[in-house]
Amino acid sequence: MKAAKLAPTACNYQPFKIWVMKSEPAKNALKEVTNYTFGAPVFFVVGVSKEQAWTRKFDQATFAHVDGAIVGTHMMLEIAQLGLGTTWVGSFDAPRLQTKFPQMKEYDLIAIFPTGYPADNAKPAGTHTLSKEDEELIEVL
Ligand SMILES: Cc1cc2nc3c(=O)[nH]c(=O)nc-3n(C[C@H](O)[C@H](O)[C@H](O)COP(=O)(O)O)c2cc1C
Repeated sequence: MKAAKLAPTACNYQPFKIWVMKSEPAKNALKEVTNYTFGAPVFFVVGVSKEQAWTRKFDQATFAHVDGAIVGTHMMLEIAQLGLGTTWVGSFDAPRLQTKFPQMKEYDLIAIFPTGYPADNAKPAGTHTLSKEDEELIEVL
């Protein structure tokens, strides 16, 4: 949580909320909304609020999801630093989760982080080593 709170956000508006899902009812609710639970003993759900976030005046772009991505990345790095493992899970039924936990309705739910000690035989996803060519990803102007 300290690493999450240290994350920079636009204008320091901190438009995020983290729910620590560690009770059995909370964890069972997550199992109903995603297949990606990985047997983890604790989960973090991250939500962001467009209303609380900074908006760029030139094009009205909201930076809520940008801020949330930085917060989530900070959390992932700290989780790894602690010798734990996680995966960013974006594939879940967010509306259903919000029905189960009405306090989440004010937020866009951007991530679930199943967190625990990795199994001895844990290995990276098949896509881990795939990378587009530099020319496709980077343009020097
Ligand atoms: C925004 C985002 C959403 C993701 N959602 C899922 C998911 O729902 N389930 C899952 O197993 N992995 C998910 N991943 C993990 C990616 O599939 C994984 O990071 C990618 O394949 C690259 O592998 P690597 O992280 O080992 O480099 C997600 C990653 C990101 C960044």
